[in-house]
Amino acid sequence: MLRIAPLFLMFLTFFSCKTEKKEVENQTKEQTPISLKNAFADDFYVGAAINSSHINKTDTLGLNLVTKEYNTITPENIMKWMYLHPAKDTFFFDEADAYVNLGLENDMHIVGHTLVWHSQIADWMNTIKDSTEMATIIKHHVKTIVSRYKGKIDSWDVVNEALNEDGSFRTSLLYNVMGDSYLEIAFTEAAKADPEASLVYNDYNLWKPEKREGVVRLVKKLQAKGVKIDGIGMQGHYSIPGPTLKDIEDSIEAFAALGVKVMFTELDITALPNPWELDGAAVEQDYSTYEGDITMNPYADGMNDSINKALSVRYKDLFSLFLKHKEAISRVTFWGVTDRETWLNDWPINGRTNYPLLFDRAYQPKDAYHEIIALKQNN
Ligand code: G3I
Repeated sequence: MLRIAPLFLMFLTFFSCKTEKKEVENQTKEQTPISLKNAFADDFYVGAAINSSHINKTDTLGLNLVTKEYNTITPENIMKWMYLHPAKDTFFFDEADAYVNLGLENDMHIVGHTLVWHSQIADWMNTIKDSTEMATIIKHHVKTIVSRYKGKIDSWDVVNEALNEDGSFRTSLLYNVMGDSYLEIAFTEAAKADPEASLVYNDYNLWKPEKREGVVRLVKKLQAKGVKIDGIGMQGHYSIPGPTLKDIEDSIEAFAALGVKVMFTELDITALPNPWELDGAAVEQDYSTYEGDITMNPYADGMNDSINKALSVRYKDLFSLFLKHKEAISRVTFWGVTDRETWLNDWPINGRTNYPLLFDRAYQPKDAYHEIIALKQNN
């Protein structure tokens, strides 16, 4: 009996250690709430574009989602040129400061969007016709903003949408005065102002082979001149049928091969028909004639089950692709928090009811959210 006792004690100790380990594991699992940022913590940052109602904390339900689900934020509008630099000698930083403080308070990866973009530029810029003066203004603009947030804003969309769909340079206000030299100036000045920040070129439709090639040429040109560029932002304004995963993957691989990171910076998936799919009209066209046309706004009273399912599958497929290329991808940001305030309710046709994001109008996660989380839970 006495000889059996030590063996029995050893067995008890072993068993209770195992039980304790299991309990600790379970506790850790229980203590880590399910969220996008936790699910993809080992893969890439996951974030959302936020707007004034989150920054000034009036949309508390939206803000709760942002802090619970995401570890990176992007300002949807408040840091664009027309708001930050409305007159030649005037900068307005109040809202941008509040945005950055929100990110710091929540220990987030903070994105600055966007330093140089022909759209939403201030009116006074249209009067600048001299290239030397324009270069001085761009340098001053970039230096003032980037140095203010040095060490706080982690990543800058330095130049936005400089290319046409065929990969050539867009003949914007900036290009017309300076040619493509404005890109080099903007990136160089940003790197000087904050050498640690990640500097990104951001554009849409980068899955298109011609536009992809345009970006590759642009990055190679900057790199050949020794200009710092750290990433390519593939915006990711997609629809359910397109673009193909193959086209997106080809771009991820082409950009990664340049030695820069890839970010999906403005992800959303429209659930509504787009006018150009119906009549082949140009994306830039004015579509106000479609306003109120119910065929263009078919889910005004609620989401259709089959579209909802298709949206979930599309998001699942995209995130499976992102996981496959997680070594190349550093961030995935949704362009908005819930379907209630997405820009796609008003573009390309005003006043529609769209469903492009992971949270519905009642701030609840949609099936697509659960599909994405399940990708990690089942692995
Ligand atoms: O400034 C007025 C404001 O005073 C007024 O209260 C408000 C009410 O309608 O309108 C405000 O301006 C709107 C602004 O968003 C802020 O809400 C503009 O009319 C509207 O055109 C603007 O749209 C933004 C668009 O960029 C402008 O080009 C969208 O919200 C924003 O989602 C969109 O974001 C862009 C990215 O920055 C770059 N990539 C494409 C993406 C989608 O277009």
